[in-house]
Amino acid sequence: MATYSRKGKTTVPRRAAEPALSLDRSAARPLTVQLSDALREAMSGGVLHPGERLPSSRVLAAQLGVSRTVVTEAYQQLYAEGWLEGRHGSGTFVARHEAAHPAPHPAPAPAEPLLAAAPRPSRGQAREQGLIDLRPGGPWVGGHDPAAWRRAWRYAAEQPPDDDPDPRGLPRLRELLADHLRRTRGVRIGPESVMVTRGTGNGLDLVGAALLGAGTRAGVEEPGYQKARTILAARGARVHPCPVDHDGILTEALPEDLSVLYTTPAHQYPLGGRLPIPRRERLLAWARRTGAMVVEDDYDAEFRYDVAPLPALYGLDPGRVILLGTLSKTLSPDLGVGWVVAEPARLEHLAAVRRDLSDRTSVPAQAATALLLERGDLDRHLRRMRLEYARRRRMLIELLGPRLRGDTAGLHVLLPLPATAVAPVVAEAAERGVLLDDVSRNSHGAPDVHGLVIGYGTASPAELRRACGVLNEVLRRH
Ligand SMILES: Cc1ncc(COP(=O)(O)O)c(C=O)c1O
Repeated sequence: MATYSRKGKTTVPRRAAEPALSLDRSAARPLTVQLSDALREAMSGGVLHPGERLPSSRVLAAQLGVSRTVVTEAYQQLYAEGWLEGRHGSGTFVARHEAAHPAPHPAPAPAEPLLAAAPRPSRGQAREQGLIDLRPGGPWVGGHDPAAWRRAWRYAAEQPPDDDPDPRGLPRLRELLADHLRRTRGVRIGPESVMVTRGTGNGLDLVGAALLGAGTRAGVEEPGYQKARTILAARGARVHPCPVDHDGILTEALPEDLSVLYTTPAHQYPLGGRLPIPRRERLLAWARRTGAMVVEDDYDAEFRYDVAPLPALYGLDPGRVILLGTLSKTLSPDLGVGWVVAEPARLEHLAAVRRDLSDRTSVPAQAATALLLERGDLDRHLRRMRLEYARRRRMLIELLGPRLRGDTAGLHVLLPLPATAVAPVVAEAAERGVLLDDVSRNSHGAPDVHGLVIGYGTASPAELRRACGVLNEVLRRH
């Protein structure tokens, strides 16, 4: 087992840590894995601090008496998981942002709260503190219909408890979801292709459990959804960053040896592009040639305000795509309902893995969701929310100007800024009560795109207006 201790020195940011590490050459675990585990443990246990510089690969390799490749591969893995960040020309640092502290695999017991270095209030705490939350990811839960919600849960409470819930979900809900997805996402599927999950994260984790493991590689868009990186790495894969441009993933940059590629073709997260058809075709040709499975995260595809959404990628090649969906954006993450769509045989495999993991979706939550779909409440909610979000988006463009980027879709926009302006703008806005997210939170290393990802789901329209006023003042100073 690798052990790690820091030589009783105060942490001075920008000064390289001096690790006393020992690797066990007789162990079966590869040296790279031992080293990345030991460094991860040191970071999660608070031995290595955010902002601290690690030795160069050359120096650490010499200290440990291993080849430089062992160190660079361990560093690469930790970059991909978000634990490390690089500043051009100045070395390798323990990442500073919250997302840099994913639960490692296997998870060590942290010696102190993982977010101690960069506390970020939860949405609830932000509300209690009177802060305006423009961080992306949350929907406007104030827009739900209380009568429909009560009716759905009353119906759920009337159902007797189930002593052996099917890991694929309630048959009625699978049928309703297949029908919903046929109508809204243009996929020709029946219930045998649908499994009800607790959301995208749960679906991706099951795909990871079924298809990944030690020695596999998984691709994630760069910049891309940080949680996808964390989940795939936790299932043992080495995460490979796959560059995107304003239209989405760059197919010519994809490597040949990925087991899984996670992508957001309907609305690239966080840059906001929609993958054009020719690129979709090239992506699928790549998947067929290399045998990779494409995991399509369709997280906010229902929200498109200008043109109709393109049908899901899944429909173009069900043999090479697994489609993930969620009600976290349309209704609320609180509900804990989403879906995986896959070819029936693959779905049965995922369900078998899920049963082995004793993983399932709450049956009452599924029953409530089924009633919302059956009575048309979800469709009505979507129609109302589309109007609401489109209004909010127009308001942001009016208040912040045409510099905003991203397709006319979803619940967030991108505000590009010079690299040096991002941190001061985020810090100054926070001092004035407005919480913002930086694109780099979604990057595995130093980002190519700099700016803010502004979410307009969570705050009320009045709060959005106030926050834009603050942001404009802050931006004028930078
Ligand atoms: C890119 C992306 N995918 C999926 C989700 C939703 O995940 P879940 O269904 O696990 O709540 C989010 C929420 O913020 C997201 O940003």
